[in-house]
Amino acid sequence: MKVNGTHYRPIWQAKDGEAVEIIDQTKLPHAFETLRLTSMQDAAHAIKAMLVRGAPLIGATAAWGLWLAMREDASDGNLESAYTMLMATRPTAVNLRWALDAGRAKLAPLAPDARVEAAKTFAEQVCDEDAELNHAIGRHGLEIIRAIAAKKSGETVNILTHCNAGWLATVDWGTATSPIYQAHDEGIPVHVWVDETRPRNQGAFLTAWELNNHGVPHTVIVDNAGGHLMQHGKVDMVITGTDRVTANGDVANKIGTYLKALAASDNGVPFYVALPSPTIDWTLDDGMRIEIEERSGEEVTRIPGRLDDGTLASVTITPKGSPAGNPAFDVTPARLVTGLITERGVSAATPAGLLSLFPEHRAAG
Ligand code: MRU
Repeated sequence: MKVNGTHYRPIWQAKDGEAVEIIDQTKLPHAFETLRLTSMQDAAHAIKAMLVRGAPLIGATAAWGLWLAMREDASDGNLESAYTMLMATRPTAVNLRWALDAGRAKLAPLAPDARVEAAKTFAEQVCDEDAELNHAIGRHGLEIIRAIAAKKSGETVNILTHCNAGWLATVDWGTATSPIYQAHDEGIPVHVWVDETRPRNQGAFLTAWELNNHGVPHTVIVDNAGGHLMQHGKVDMVITGTDRVTANGDVANKIGTYLKALAASDNGVPFYVALPSPTIDWTLDDGMRIEIEERSGEEVTRIPGRLDDGTLASVTITPKGSPAGNPAFDVTPARLVTGLITERGVSAATPAGLLSLFPEHRAAG
């Protein structure tokens, strides 16, 4: 997507071919800065410290991390230790495992001197494919928005989203935002309620920044406002992204998603989840078995922001001595999900629904 008229992805190979560049998402929305990653350790740090984040982008960064590792030392031992170190960065988004498993399977059978080029091709493929998948998700989601717009006879369609499942969280388009961008681009009047998404404020910092850049009407709200807005008929649909969908249709996503799904269900508001197929974990059939990342309590007790004079600062908001808990994700049971918007179409959040779109995952026999 465009930033000041220039097309950007949140990750790309540096022009000199010697590094990977990323948009440093910890600086947004206050500063737009790019950063060079020159080693696998840099890539692992970028994921762990959330300079890059969002399930598909975590996978793409890990793929580039394998390339950086192979440039340094393309031995079997280094392939294995890069795999292990990158895998240990964040536990919930399954795209990380998907990218690392696929990358290792491609590289391991090759002779070491063929691995650098193959790792680069693999990382480029992961990125290009993610952009294509998200574009296709947008086309399918657009049909849902079109139908709601038609029902409302051209009145604004109000969509609530949580966290950032935008282009910054992927390689392009975003998942939850792709239908929104495509609807806006074809002239459907859309307005987005942006949950601020404490503690890291990915909604207030990143989704609002993206929508602002693209000219999509939006309003940032506190995380607790969604239920109230739904009770008053101010939300036509919810679309979120996800870090992992299990084979039965349960959805792990940013903490607070579950409460939005409960409120949506209570108010008859359709609750959609947008995802590319690498986000489906076919090995699990119960979302309660997904490992939920527990992050530092400091993300809860301190809030970063920009002072009126433009300097960046962070302040403590809790009393000294009050401990903080910080589960980063929750699981929305499949029964609360109206539909899963994938690159192949929209399915029910059920085993049969998912398998109807991805029959290659039917158990043999
Ligand atoms: O902790 P984050 O910022 O990586 O969490 C991101 C989310 O929860 C997104 O909704 C999810 O990864 C889907 S991104 C298309």
